[in-house]
Amino acid sequence: MDKFIIKGGEKLSGCVEVSGAKNAALPIISAAILGEGKTILHNIPDVKDIRTIIKILEYLGASVKYSNNTMEIDPSGINRYTAPYEFVSTMRGSICLLGPLLAKYKKAQFSMPGGCVIGPRPIDLHIRGLQRLGVDVKIEDGYIIADARKGLKGNYVFLGGTFGSSVLATVNVMCASTLARGTTVIEFAACEPEVSDLANFLVRMGAKISGIGSPCITIEGVKRLNGVEYSVIPDRIETGTFILAGAITGGNICVKKCQPSHIGAFIERLVETGISVKTGKNFVRIKGKSEWKAVDIVTFSYPGFPTDLQAQMMAFLSLADGVSVITEKVFPERFIHAGELNRLGASIQLDGSRAIVRGVKKLFGARVMASDLRASAALVLAGLAADGTTEVSRIYHLFRGYQNFENKLRQIGANIKREKDTLQ
Ligand code: UD1
Repeated sequence: MDKFIIKGGEKLSGCVEVSGAKNAALPIISAAILGEGKTILHNIPDVKDIRTIIKILEYLGASVKYSNNTMEIDPSGINRYTAPYEFVSTMRGSICLLGPLLAKYKKAQFSMPGGCVIGPRPIDLHIRGLQRLGVDVKIEDGYIIADARKGLKGNYVFLGGTFGSSVLATVNVMCASTLARGTTVIEFAACEPEVSDLANFLVRMGAKISGIGSPCITIEGVKRLNGVEYSVIPDRIETGTFILAGAITGGNICVKKCQPSHIGAFIERLVETGISVKTGKNFVRIKGKSEWKAVDIVTFSYPGFPTDLQAQMMAFLSLADGVSVITEKVFPERFIHAGELNRLGASIQLDGSRAIVRGVKKLFGARVMASDLRASAALVLAGLAADGTTEVSRIYHLFRGYQNFENKLRQIGANIKREKDTLQ
């Protein structure tokens, strides 16, 4: 296992380019199996989760070629329909293959994803949505056994849950209904840009989808979809992470090849702290300050403040002037990073699904442990701003979602290196 060693205090400056969106790439790669023929995808980030979905596709019998962020997928050899525990346990997002497998091959078996450090991860909405399309679903020996051999039939599907919409449930129902008989209307669909990117990809393949980007999506089933060429949108979470890396060090940075309109809620909150932000068609430039104001944050499904930037924003607010209240409405238990930030000198108190962040003047380097993908990024940001040296262990979580992270940070002046970790 590797760890990061960060010498804090460098003001970051310069330009950094973001990679393709992992959370758009995963469902699009999965949906590629719907096509008759090969699909070529561009701007696929080289991160661990993408390597995992490649392994699953190859296990199913597909042929995948991947280099320089371009992927070619040929689904013609698929002859297995099961995603075993060893894959699903490392990446919960692999559930997005369920809808495509059912649409194309009419059967699928998936290991139940279970919970993870960010809290319970139910799949009731996925199951309910697929059942509405005529899928028989049984749970046996920790596996979801889904059978659509009676045929998929379009229907009205309401996908609202206790915590709002669900990204991957929307993805699964949308993919399953592309090849169903008749029309499907998904109400309370997730509006995240990654869902829209998938919908645009499906349309390119020949699907008939309207209402893309809205909470009501209509899909008219078609007989077949074709393999196509497509480029995935930039990663909005990586964009926000680099913006915060600049802001937390008081630096001036420009994040390029991004889509500022996808992070409106985040930019609005950042401006509220007093940071100067300039956006263009595909860049965001920020001018950091030595002091910034506390703000309250409520995470919400898109277009609200993204839960996947909550941990990084908490690191930034831990150095703000005043008290910030962060309320987590998507994953109410997603605060495991708060304790680690406190090890660096932050003052964060948890109260159910809220975190009270009392801004401190300084953070101090220490040894901390990453617990999940975005929490790892938050600890790195805090380390960049802290006095002295911070060691972040278990950074394998971070490589699930950030391509070339430390090199990109070094490019804008961070003092960060990767070393073997003796701590297991
Ligand atoms: C996706 C993202 C993840 C992001 C999350 C929320 C991928 C690969 N992952 O995960 O990075 O943090 O969206 O933006 O795209 N829920 C239910 N029942 C369900 C499904 C979800 O109650 O059947 C709840 C969840 O527990 C959570 C909320 O709905 O409280 C939103 O989760 P969801 O949008 O489904 O997250 P994912 O799609 O798994």
